[in-house]
Amino acid sequence: MTATEHSPARRIKEFVRAVRDSGLYPQNPIVNSATTEPVVWVDGRDHLLFCSNNLLGLSNHPEVRAAAAKALERYGLGSGGSRQMAANIDVHRALEHRIADFLGQEDAICFAAGYMANVGVIPALMKLDRYMQIDQVRTLAPPQPGTAGPSWEIFSEELNHASVVDGVRLAAAEVSRYAHKDMAGLAARLDASAARSKFIVSDGVFSMDGDIAPVPELARLARRHDAVLMIDDAHGVGMLGAGGRGSLEHLGVPPAEIDLQMGTFTKAFGGVGGYVAGDRGLIDFLRISARTYIFSAPLPPAIAAGVAESIDIAEREPWRREKALENAAYFRREVRALGYDTLGSEVHIVPVLIGSEAAAAEATRRLRRLRQDKSALRAFRRAVRGRNAEAHRAHRGFHLGPAGLAAVKFQPQPFGHQRHLDAGHAGQPFDRAAHLRRAGSAIHAGDAPFLDAAGSVRHSAAPSLGFPSRDRR
Ligand SMILES: Cc1ncc(COP(=O)(O)O)c(C=O)c1O
Repeated sequence: MTATEHSPARRIKEFVRAVRDSGLYPQNPIVNSATTEPVVWVDGRDHLLFCSNNLLGLSNHPEVRAAAAKALERYGLGSGGSRQMAANIDVHRALEHRIADFLGQEDAICFAAGYMANVGVIPALMKLDRYMQIDQVRTLAPPQPGTAGPSWEIFSEELNHASVVDGVRLAAAEVSRYAHKDMAGLAARLDASAARSKFIVSDGVFSMDGDIAPVPELARLARRHDAVLMIDDAHGVGMLGAGGRGSLEHLGVPPAEIDLQMGTFTKAFGGVGGYVAGDRGLIDFLRISARTYIFSAPLPPAIAAGVAESIDIAEREPWRREKALENAAYFRREVRALGYDTLGSEVHIVPVLIGSEAAAAEATRRLRRLRQDKSALRAFRRAVRGRNAEAHRAHRGFHLGPAGLAAVKFQPQPFGHQRHLDAGHAGQPFDRAAHLRRAGSAIHAGDAPFLDAAGSVRHSAAPSLGFPSRDRR
């Protein structure tokens, strides 16, 4: 391949070099242990991990592993194709029934990832009018109401997850983005719309800011405007509500009020895969229209079986979400007491506003490097020292642009983390063996170097570098 001075390949490489030189290229360390544990082994020593999505500690649960192992024995590794070809396996259907039943919805459709669910489902809905022109159904389908205006308009909340944003981009529709949780703004946009069909989509829990959407108001507006309402509750399900059924249950919204309830098995349930649950007719439509369902393989059968087990455990052991939320509340309170802004965080996602992206990247690097006997919270203060004034200036001046809103995101888990945060203060060593017993995890049990390192905690967190969702468009 020749690369002239202005060739795109050359410019791409120069861009990457510039990003590296600026210090912003992600420095994701290689982890030599399960990244679903609160303590991981990186570069020959322990690190506290505050960014795993294994929110309830179920990924390594013995019963989950046993269910997955049994399915692996029976079905092997892969699925053998798409659900519409060979791979419509009983464990997939069982998982769909299980999650629909858990959420109180009629049915569900599963995808290989939550991302695949969003980029498949949103554009699929907008194909309705085109499908109605198909010869075989034209005479059977109801006539389209009116002809003026665009066929579909999507009303998408500005802090929606990137997968929702991408699903919206792929859809054949007008798009209207409304401001974060601004229900008056959304109502005005709906009133002004001339579209024949309206679709409202919002995260239930916002993945970077950790606050909760006004779902009851969204449901009221959807009803009033005869709009389809989809809630992406990837972070709510398993974590919020008395039964762990997510932001709907937390806010007292009956499941039938939401047309499509999207979620992922990657977070509270400790596995992989995504789903959309709702009315049976809508789910049936998605099976024949969502391209990521039709043209892509589903999640592996062993994962489907393991996830179904996780849902059972999450349902019968509410203490897991209670403890994870308690640890997050503790971390949020302590970080706020140190003078940091945690944005609108109300749940297990705790962003800590740092300021510029470079400062956030540097804070992350320092947190990884720190090795000291003080508590993790003190380590945190050292890592972000001097950054907060900049962050506050940027936050107050939001209109100046998104560059000053980079945050580092923390997600404490149910096991250990409060002790980890405090251990330095209390002078307690970290008892890894006890921790592993509590976590029901045997995965590191034979890992001698790991166990050797258990004598004291090195209070060094390895948080994810989270660019706030405002930056991600
Ligand atoms: C709100 C939200 N929706 C969807 C997804 C995508 O889920 P998955 O990781 O299963 O692809 C995420 C993942 O972070 C998310 O936070």
